[in-house]
Amino acid sequence: MKITSNIKLTAIVGLIIILGLIGQVSAQTVWLDELDLSAATQGWGVPMKNKSIDNKTLTIAGKTFERGFGTHSVSSLLILLEGKATVFTAQVGIDDEVAGHEPASEFELYGDGKKLWSSGIMRLGDAARPCSVQLAGIQKLELVVADGGNGNYYDHADWADAKFETTGVTTFKTYNPVASEPYILTPQPSAAPRINSAKVFGVRPGSPFQYLVAATGDRPMTFSASGLPKGLKIDTQTGIITGSLSKAGTFEVTLGAKNAKGKAGKKLRIVCGERIALTPPMGWNSWNCFAGEVSADKVKRATEAMVKSGLINHGWTYINIDDFWQNHRDSKDQSLHGKLRDEAGNIIPNTRFGDMKTLADYVHGLGLKIGLYSSPGPWTCGGCVGSYGYEKQDAESYAKWGFDYLKYDWCSYGGVVNGMPDNDPYKVSSLSYNGGSQLATAIKPFKLMGDYLRQQPRDIVYSLCQYGMSDVWKWGDSVSGNCWRTTNDITDTWASVKNIALDQDKSATYAKPGNWNDPDMLVVGTVGWGNPHKSKLKPDEQYLHISLWSLFSSPLLIGCDMEKLDDFTLNLLTNDEVIEINQDPLGKEATCVQTVSELRVYVKELEDGGRAVGFCNFGSDIVDISYKDFEKLGLNGKFKVRDLWRQKDISNIRTQTGELMLKVPAHGVVLYKFTPVK
Ligand code: GLA
Repeated sequence: MKITSNIKLTAIVGLIIILGLIGQVSAQTVWLDELDLSAATQGWGVPMKNKSIDNKTLTIAGKTFERGFGTHSVSSLLILLEGKATVFTAQVGIDDEVAGHEPASEFELYGDGKKLWSSGIMRLGDAARPCSVQLAGIQKLELVVADGGNGNYYDHADWADAKFETTGVTTFKTYNPVASEPYILTPQPSAAPRINSAKVFGVRPGSPFQYLVAATGDRPMTFSASGLPKGLKIDTQTGIITGSLSKAGTFEVTLGAKNAKGKAGKKLRIVCGERIALTPPMGWNSWNCFAGEVSADKVKRATEAMVKSGLINHGWTYINIDDFWQNHRDSKDQSLHGKLRDEAGNIIPNTRFGDMKTLADYVHGLGLKIGLYSSPGPWTCGGCVGSYGYEKQDAESYAKWGFDYLKYDWCSYGGVVNGMPDNDPYKVSSLSYNGGSQLATAIKPFKLMGDYLRQQPRDIVYSLCQYGMSDVWKWGDSVSGNCWRTTNDITDTWASVKNIALDQDKSATYAKPGNWNDPDMLVVGTVGWGNPHKSKLKPDEQYLHISLWSLFSSPLLIGCDMEKLDDFTLNLLTNDEVIEINQDPLGKEATCVQTVSELRVYVKELEDGGRAVGFCNFGSDIVDISYKDFEKLGLNGKFKVRDLWRQKDISNIRTQTGELMLKVPAHGVVLYKFTPVK
C-alpha cells in the first residue's frame, strides 16, 4: 500500500513539474497589432496597425514606437481572451502628430465589464504612460479610449508596444458583437390617407405663415382645414396653409385629407404668440454629407429628394444650408473667392450660391422651409466669413431672402474674447472654446443675434451651436434660442452616438415647446463630411439612435446625401409612430429612470397620458429578461403596450401583475408606447 502511494505521489509531482515546464515553454507573447483590429470602433478614420491615425510612425512625447494600435478617441476594441491571457502591457499616450491642438483622452481597460485600469486624462506632450494589467480568468477584454473632456476632435491615441502574455495560445479573436445585416421594421404606409404633420404650430403675429398638411397615402389627395382663423387659407391640392395672423390667440383647426382609398382627419392647434418651434424642427442639413462642398445645386437636389422620396409626407420640413455658402478667407477654391461683403456691409453669398432669395422661393414652393448658418465670430468654423460686427445686416439679409432657420455657431468668437479676432479656430483650437465657460461672455453674442432675429418680420428658428458651454440649456431661452447643441460634433460611430446619448440627462428638464436640447444631427444613410460612405453605425445602432433622438425631443436633422437614400434608411426615417414621439406637443424630454447592467430605460411623458419607453441596450450582449418594474416607468393600473417600430399592439398588461418579455439586441433598442386603458 505504502509503495503504491509513494509511486502515486511521485507521479503527481512529476506531472506537476512537466505541466509547469510545458506552461513555461508554451507561455507566449501575442502583440496587439497581430490581431484583427478592424473590429474596433473609433471616432474618426480607420484602426491603424503600427502607425498613427495619420499613417505616421507612432510617436508619444518625442518617443517613437515600432508597434502598436493607432486609434482615434472615442474608441473601443473587444477581444475574446477566454481566460487565456495572463497580462497585458502597453505604453499609451496622445500621438505628437496633433501638435497645435489640445487633445485630451483617457485610456481604459475593462475586463468582463469591470474597469481594470485607467491612464487618467492624457494630453499632448505627456510622456507615454505604462499600462500593466493582470488578466487571469478574464473572458472578454475591452480597450477603450474615452474623451478626456475636450470634445475629442484631435485625439489621436496610441496603444504603443501593446502585447499580451498568454497561457500558450498564439492569437485572440477580436469581435464586434452587433449584427451587420440591415432589417426593416416599419410597415409600409397604407394607401388610405394618414396625416402626419405636428399637432401644434406656433407663429408670431404678422409673420408669414407656412404649414404643410403632411400626409401619406395614394395621390391624388385633396386637403381641407376647417376652423382656420381669418388671414389663413389652405391650398386644397398641395395641403399648404399660408397667410398671416394679425393677432395673438389659439385656434383649433380640423385638418382633412381625402383620396380614392379613404379619408383622414386630425386636429391642429395654431398658437399665435411669441413662441415658435413648438415641436422639434425636422429636416435636413448639408454638413454631415457635403461639408465644404455644398452648393445651391446640391441644396436644390436635396430639396427635390425630400419630396420625391416621400419624406415630406412624414413631416420632414427644413432644408438647412450649413457652413460654406459664404466666401472664404483664404481658400484656394475659386468658387469661394470673392468679396465678403458689399460697401454697405451686406454679406455676399459665394458664386456656388448666387441669389439666395431665388433658392428660398424654390424651397418654399415645394412646401418646405429653408435654413442658413453663421458664426458670431468673424469667421465660421470652416473659415468663411461670420457675422461679427454685422449682426444686424445679416439678420436683415436672412429675413429679406426668406430664410426660416439660423444655426449660429460659436467658432472664432473665442478669438474675439481673446482680443485676437483674426485667428482661425481650426488652426488654434484652444481659441474656439475661449470665453465659452464664462457665463456673461458665452451669452453675449447669442443675445445680440437673437434680438435682431426677433426684430425681423418673419419667424426664424434660432439654433445655438456652442457645444453646450456654460450650460446653454439654462439660458438659451433667454436669448430667444429655440434649440441648442448640448455636445460636440457627432460622428457616424457607435462611440460617438453612445457618448452623446449618455450625456443628455443633465439638460433634459429644460426641454419644452420652443426650447429643444440638440445632441447634433442624425448620422444615418450616406454621410461623410465631403467624403461619402454609408454610416458606420450598425442597423441596431441606427434604430437606437433614431429612437433616442425621438425620446430626447431633439431636432431631427437628417445628415445624409438625400439622393442616396437606401431602403433601410428611408424606412428608418418614415416611421410615423416613432416621429410622433419626437413631435409630441407636451414637449417633454425622456430621461433614464432605471439602469439594469448596461440596459438603460428611458421614459418620455406624452400629452395623452401615455409614456414612450425606450429599453436601450448599450452593452455588447443581448438582454433577454422578463420586465416587471412598471412603477419605475411611472405607470399604474392597466395599460396597452405598443411596439412603435413594428407598429403593433403587443399586449394589455396590468402593472400590478403583468410582465413583459424583452429581447433587446446588443447596441439596440425596444421602443414601446404605454397607453392607459380606461
Ligand atoms: C462646427 C459645427 C458643425 C458644423 C461645422 C461647420 O464644427 O459643430 O455642426 O456646422 O462647424 O464648419
